[in-house]
Amino acid sequence: MKVAIIMGSDSDWGVMKATVDILKDFSVDTELTVASAHRTPQKVHDFVKNSSAQIFIAAAGMAAHLAGVVASLTTKPVIGVPINSEPFKGLDALLSTVQMPGGVPVATMAVNGAKNAAIFAVEILSLQNNALAEKISAYRQKMAAEIELKDKKLKEASL
Ligand code: RP5
Repeated sequence: MKVAIIMGSDSDWGVMKATVDILKDFSVDTELTVASAHRTPQKVHDFVKNSSAQIFIAAAGMAAHLAGVVASLTTKPVIGVPINSEPFKGLDALLSTVQMPGGVPVATMAVNGAKNAAIFAVEILSLQNNALAEKISAYRQKMAAEIELKDKKLKEASL
């Protein structure tokens, strides 16, 4: 099981570190590269064609064509993470990533949705892996327990 993460620039790393951290928590192998759809198109092509990953996560800001280009080069699932940047606060990247023509999908996360990109990748991999399916289920239960604790604490503090 391996997930490949491609970032348009090293400036995306501050957001995308969360993706790598979560994949590590789930013991999913990752490979990481900086490659730009516009600045280094050949590198994007070669990386995608040579990767043994089952899923690609592509993160880019501004005119963010990276995830779409990756999707054009593979039939494996591609998850896109639009990155927030000035002056349009990520709306430019969101639209560039999400508005794919029919036939070449990109599963687009929220702007800066690095965490959900990792979790979504784990959910896809868990279809074929029972141990991973149990881990993601435990992750959900832990989240629910944390919300219950927050609810209890807030009620205790406010009543
Ligand atoms: C995009 O342009 C990158 O993904 C990054 O989000 C943005 C700015 O890149 P740098 O100018 O920081 O290299 O291609």
